[in-house]
Amino acid sequence: MRPSPLSAPQIPRHVAIIMDGNGRWAKGRGQSRSEGHRQGAKTVRMAVTRARELGIGVLTLYAFSSQNWARPGDEVESLMSLLVEFCESERNLLLDKQIRFRVIGERSRLPALVLAAVEALEQVTASNEAMQLVVAISYGGREELVAAAQSLAREVAAGRLTPEQVTADSFRAHLWTGDLPDPDLVIRTSGEVRISNFLLWQSAYAEFVIEPIAWPDWTEADFDNCLVQFAGRDRRYGGVAP
Ligand code: FPP
Repeated sequence: MRPSPLSAPQIPRHVAIIMDGNGRWAKGRGQSRSEGHRQGAKTVRMAVTRARELGIGVLTLYAFSSQNWARPGDEVESLMSLLVEFCESERNLLLDKQIRFRVIGERSRLPALVLAAVEALEQVTASNEAMQLVVAISYGGREELVAAAQSLAREVAAGRLTPEQVTADSFRAHLWTGDLPDPDLVIRTSGEVRISNFLLWQSAYAEFVIEPIAWPDWTEADFDNCLVQFAGRDRRYGGVAP
């Protein structure tokens, strides 16, 4: 194992990653976009393993957005197959390393096979406590906020909550991320500088690192480098420096 680039107190509790650039990586090699995603799935294994080694508590990966359903059918199909494959091929890794697997997103839109695979992995890893791996599938931050608002509105309409009890805390509890801490660090690979509907509420005070490298080429050393950049940031949460 490579030595950790940071001391334990400097390690972020929650790292979230926008895994971008699979398509461009594949195009640059004259390969299909699906091949780019297949290579990207290998980087996922590296990121999970490295996060666990470094003692990161939660790793959230943006695998498929609510808007990605609009991509060509064969690309959507290959991404869905990769997710099912991942649930089967990484099962032992997650069990060995005591990693709990969770999915956030619009579960009702997932094909039955994908839903069955992710729910089986969630169940079998439910009591693991060393790290949480959260995979965002059919996920959109706006969709999540609307779902939380609807759920709170139902509580108010049923008389179980007053309008004044709709607070930042009760709102947060209705998000798909529920009990998870907010991300401290959001990494985006492949150079684009945008949030793309990812963890809109939760990333209010996250630090952002944009990596120029495409996700399939992203290495352990690149991951470590993002953490070093994070450790050099001065987080003030709207306050002033002491
Ligand atoms: C964005 O790159 C990436 C995706 C939409 C899919 C990410 C999926 C994986 C890395 C593999 C499957 C995930 C798991 C957890 C097994 P893009 O295709 O938009 O790249 P481009 O901007 O270069 O076209």
